[in-house]
Amino acid sequence: MEETLLPPKRILVSGGAGFIGSHTCVELLREGYEVAVVDNLSNSAMSIIHAVGAVAGAEPIFHHCDLLDRVELSRLFCEFAPDVVIHFAGLKSVVESTERPLDYFDVNVYGTINVLRAMADCGCSLMIFSSSATVYGEPVYIPCDEGHPTDPANPYGVSKLLAEKVIAEWALSNDANSAIIFRYFNPVGAHVSGKLGEDPTGPANNLMPVILDIVSGKREVLEIYGNDYNTVDGTGVRDFIHVMDLARAHVLGIEHLSEVQDSEIFNLGTGQPTSVMQLVSAFEEVSGQKVNVKFVGRRLGDVGEVWTSNASAKKILGFETRFSLHDMCAHAYQWIKRNASTSNK
Ligand code: UD1
Repeated sequence: MEETLLPPKRILVSGGAGFIGSHTCVELLREGYEVAVVDNLSNSAMSIIHAVGAVAGAEPIFHHCDLLDRVELSRLFCEFAPDVVIHFAGLKSVVESTERPLDYFDVNVYGTINVLRAMADCGCSLMIFSSSATVYGEPVYIPCDEGHPTDPANPYGVSKLLAEKVIAEWALSNDANSAIIFRYFNPVGAHVSGKLGEDPTGPANNLMPVILDIVSGKREVLEIYGNDYNTVDGTGVRDFIHVMDLARAHVLGIEHLSEVQDSEIFNLGTGQPTSVMQLVSAFEEVSGQKVNVKFVGRRLGDVGEVWTSNASAKKILGFETRFSLHDMCAHAYQWIKRNASTSNK
C-alpha cells in the first residue's frame, strides 16, 4: 500500500528570533503550525520571541542553543520532532566576514551541516534554507534570475553559497530529502502591528536600519555610498522587499516542499528596482521626517545595481508581493517610533 504523507504541522525555525525569522514565525503561528525556535540570541533577544507571541496570539517554543553545539542541537530536534526545518540562523555581516572569515564558515557552513545531521537524527527530511542574493556577486545581467552565475565577492557570500551546495548534495543523496533555497534580495520594513521589526544588536550598516537610527536621533546623517553609479540618479539601486512578503514565501515554501524532487532555488524580491535616493524620498514622504544625507565615496564591495526577476517564485510557489515601497517605509517608521527607546538593546 502506498504511504500517505500528512501535511507538515511542526516547524522548527533556527534563527527564529532574528529579523526575517521572527516575522516568519508570526506567519507560521497564524497558519496554525506548531513552531519551535532554536536561537543563540547572538543578534537578537528573548523580548523578540515574546513580541512574536503577542502579535501571533501564540508564543513559539524557544530553546537557547548554538548551531555549533551538535549534541544539544540534535537533542532538541529529536525532542520536538519537526516535519520541516526552516534554517535562518547564521552570521550576516559582509564587513565582519572579511575580518573573521573562519567564524563565517564555522557558523554558516559547519552550522548548516550540524542542522542537517540533527535532522537525520530525528528523521526530518524537509528543509527551507535562508540564502542571499549576495551569492550572485557583481551582476552580469539584470534582472537577476536563478540561472545567473554565482560569484560571491566576500566570505559571507562564499559561506552562503557553500551552505547551499552542502544542502543540494544532501538533498540528492536520499530520495526522501528535499530542500528549498530562498535567495533574499533586500529585506526591509516591519510588522504592521509595530511590535516587531529589525533590531540589530551592534551598529547598523544596512540602509534602512541606518535611516531608522537617524529618525530616532542616534545618528546625524545618512552617508550615501556613491552618487556616480550608472543608475537613475547615480545612487545604488536595489530590490527592497517587505519582510512580511518574505515571511509569507516560507509558508508557500512549506506547501510546495512535498513536490520538490531534490532541491529548488527561488529568488525573493519584488522585481522593482529602487535607488537609495528613491528610498530616502519615500521614507521622508511617509514619515514626514527629514533624513539628512551626505554623499561620500563608494563602499568597497558594493555593486551599482541589482534586482531580481521573481518570475519563478510567482509561477511555482504562487508568490505575490503585497506591500509597496511606501508600506515598507511606513511600517519601518511605525516600528521605530514605538521602539526607539528600547531598540539596539
Ligand atoms: C547587504 C549585503 C548583502 C546582504 C544584505 C542583507 C553588502 C555589500 N551586502 O546588501 O550581502 O545580503 O545587505 O540585507 O553589505 N547604503 C548607503 N549608506 C548606508 C548604507 C547603505 O548609501 O549607510 C547603500 C549601499 O551602498 C547600497 C544600498 O544602500 O547601495 C543598500 O545597502 P545595504 O542595505 O547595506 O544592502 P546591500 O549592500 O545591498
